[in-house]
This record gives sequence, C-alpha cells and structure tokens, in this order.
Amino acid sequence: MKAAAVAHKDFTVSKIDDRVYGAFLEHLGRAIYSGIYEPDHPTADANGMRADVIELVKELDVPVVRYPGGNFVSAYNWEDGIGPKEERPVRLDLAWHTSESNEVGVHEFADWCDSVGTEMMLAVNLGSRGLDAARNFVEYVNHPGGSYWSDLRKKNGREEPWNVKLWCLGNEMDGPWQIGHKDAEEYGKLAAETAKAIRAFDRSLELVVCGSSNSDMPSYPDWEATVLEHTYDEVDYISLHMYFGNRDNNTAKYLALNEKLDDYIEAVSGVIKFIKAKRRSTKDVYISFDEWNVWYHSNAQDRKILEGNDGWPHAPALLEDIYNFEDVLQVGLILNTFIRRSDVVKIACIAQLVNVIAPIMTEKGGPAWRQTIYYPYYFASRFGRGTALNVSVDCPTYDSEDYKGVPYADVSAVHDEEAGTVTVFAVNRHASEAVDLELDLQGFGDLKVIDHQVMTHADLKAVNSKSKMDEVAPKKGEGASVSDGNLAVSLPAYSYQMVRLGR
Ligand code: AHR
Repeated sequence: MKAAAVAHKDFTVSKIDDRVYGAFLEHLGRAIYSGIYEPDHPTADANGMRADVIELVKELDVPVVRYPGGNFVSAYNWEDGIGPKEERPVRLDLAWHTSESNEVGVHEFADWCDSVGTEMMLAVNLGSRGLDAARNFVEYVNHPGGSYWSDLRKKNGREEPWNVKLWCLGNEMDGPWQIGHKDAEEYGKLAAETAKAIRAFDRSLELVVCGSSNSDMPSYPDWEATVLEHTYDEVDYISLHMYFGNRDNNTAKYLALNEKLDDYIEAVSGVIKFIKAKRRSTKDVYISFDEWNVWYHSNAQDRKILEGNDGWPHAPALLEDIYNFEDVLQVGLILNTFIRRSDVVKIACIAQLVNVIAPIMTEKGGPAWRQTIYYPYYFASRFGRGTALNVSVDCPTYDSEDYKGVPYADVSAVHDEEAGTVTVFAVNRHASEAVDLELDLQGFGDLKVIDHQVMTHADLKAVNSKSKMDEVAPKKGEGASVSDGNLAVSLPAYSYQMVRLGR
C-alpha cells in the first residue's frame, strides 16, 4: 500500500524541549539497588554505581531523570537518605511493601546524575508529609549556605548547591492507592501553598503539579480543572501518566493505543486553556508526561509477590517487564505522539530506566543489557531533537476495537536546524503489507539519506535476554532514497524505522 506525506520547513509544530526524552528512577524493586547502585559489582565506581549501567544511560543521552518516586515518594523522608550511610535508618516502604536501606539518597543520586550527564527532577512528598518537609528539602538542595539545611548539606560533603530547577509537587495524588491520597480540592490547596513557599525561596524554579494518574481515573478530567483552579498561577506543568498493555493479545488494538494518548493530551490541553481563559491569565502551563511506558508483562507475577505475605524484602524483583518486539512498535508510536504534541508536552519521562519497566536490564553481579524498547527510545533521544514538523500523511487506515480510522503508517519528523538534518520516525502497523511511504519535503533544499535504521522481526513476541542480548536490534535499512526533495522509503510490515536526511 502507499502513503503520501508532506512536510514543509516552515510548517512546524514547535521547538521540541529536549526534556521530552527524560526518564524516571524510583526506589522500587531493583531500579536503584542492583540497578544503578551495586557496590560489590565488578564495574562499580568509587560511589558504588555500576559503570556498565552508566555507559548504557550515557548512550541514551537522557536529559533529565525524575527521582525518587513514584508511589514511594508519598511516604518518604528525604532526610533518611543523607548523612553517614551507616547511620541511615532502614524504613518500611509502604508503597511497595519492601525495606528501604537508604544507602542511596539525594547525594548519591546527584553524583550518579553527574556521571551520566543528566539533570535531576526531584519530587517532594505531599502524601504523608507536606509543605514544611518540602521547603526544607528545596533549601537543602538549592541554597548556597548560611542556613540550617544548606549548612547540613555542606557538612554532609556537598559544598555547592545542586540548583535543581524542576520540582514535582507529589505523585499521583488522585490515586486511592497513594499514601496520603487527597481529593482534588485538598490536593489543589496543599499544592498551591507548597508552590507558594517554594517560589518564595526561588521564583525561577519550575514546578509540576499532579494531574491524573491515567485517563481512566473516575475523577479525570475534573481533577485537572479543580487542581489548576487552585494552582494555575504558581505552577508551570501539569503531570500526566499513562501505561500501555496488550492484555487481550490483540495487536491491532494495542498498536492503536497512542490514539488514546493523543486524546488525553488534547483534553488536558483544553482544560489548561479553559482555566487560563477563566483566570484571564497570560501565562501558559504545559504538560509534563512524567511516567509513560509499556507495563503489563509482569503484573500477574507482581500481584503474587505484593499480595503474598513475603515480609519486607529489600530490593526484590518487581515490575520487571521483559519487552518484546511488539513493544518496540508501541514505544515508537508513543514517542511519535510526543513529537507531534511537542507544542504542549514539554517534559516526558520513560518509566522507568533500569530493571523496573525499563529499557535497561541488569543481573546482580552479572551483565547489563538493552531491552527491545531501548532502541526506539535511543533513536528519538539521540536524533529527535530540534523542531517538530507538521507532517500530513494520507494513507489507508483500519478500525481497532476502540478507534476508527487508525492510519497504518504513523510518522513524525524533526528538523534539526543546527545540524541541517531532517529525521523521520515511522511505524508500520500493518501485519502483512509493506507501506511505500513518499514524503514530499518542501523548503529544505537538497537532502540525501545519511542514516537509515530498521527494526523488524518475524516473531512479535521475540525478546532480548542475558543469553540473547541482540535478538531484537536495529539493522541498517536499505533502499531509502531522495529525489527532487521526495523521500521514498518502504516500511516493511510491522516495522519501526528511522531515516535521517542531511547534506
Ligand atoms: O512507575 C511505577 C508506578 O506507577 C509509580 O510508582 C507510580 O507513580 C505509578 O502508578
């Protein structure tokens, strides 16, 4: 089948905020312990951090990492993670029913962020705690010195403040599972007052208020409206989360789920506009999509662990989804959606980064490897920076169980003005037919294909593992060509690909 697409250099969506390629690390399962931190590991650095994992994260070029949770943050005392390690308390983590040793806290995480070259995005606890603990944490992290908390940071070995710009006002406060869950009124008031206190410390900080945990929540989208009524003037972003799963083993339905993501973004940007108009405000609030990924493979196994009376294990294997080739397509589709909605989605975090629903897997004492979904995330993060083009695509469609008119070819394109490149990301959702894509690139002058990477596999359920680390991996594409500004490329059935064009 054929797909005809058009893009023009001056017909753009928005400059993409690099932070849309962010990630998330929570004190959950083996994300921190035996994920990024394993002092006995053969590759451990002086901070006890796994150098093999550092290398993989550096390869991804992650611009920002959200920390320390997640559900975990809603009963977390940040002070437990500072000071001499041997004096730090072991706590019961109520979110995941595990023991938290606190060997890793903000100092260790900050050092790790330096090692991988990323920024911190920190969350404060608005579940079991509130404004006071939050403002102390901000002072500890960002104040140069001469106050109780900043001097304590110095005493604990960090002279300079970290100057963290991005702060999350709690996590998923709409969820009844959250420790200290609140209704929208209660949370909106608390978030506004906390934001006010943080802003009194430093007006330039960027604050993220909790939106809905997902678009199936009964309180959605009233939650967003109420919370923004209270906080609009004090915050910069509203946080959304969404996880994807192929629970019915229905690939056509699964691969149409980014339509739901698009609807979610569209509806919340409408709520933002509504509140902006109501408040006669000139200020904008954007979306921070700070948890997204495929999450369903490990659900049944985790239910047994979490519901069984297993005591309070330290860093058990939880949420360890093993991703397959089908999930590559899904992650490619999600990232395409963020690129196309880069006018409103300014921050996004793949959840999570290591071991826990993650692109990187590790074995305790053993190797680290790339899961299948590592690759679409890698390509988007590395080459999806610049300006999103408004690509119009005319191609045959199908009706999934939930959505009508889903195009077989899902395409996004990014113009990097500095590098002089145009990068096209495309997914073919068709099970058996190739799509011959013709993209008319107007206003770019002469371009040629400088890179072409394809991911396809005979088995949708193929996975990577310790013994077969490269079972699902990109291969150099063939046959893409440009003539008179027209890119012609064939997208094989069920495939993900990236084509880069330059001079
Ligand atoms: O990422 C796993 C969990 O999913 C997070 O802790 C929570 O915020 C969300 O429900």
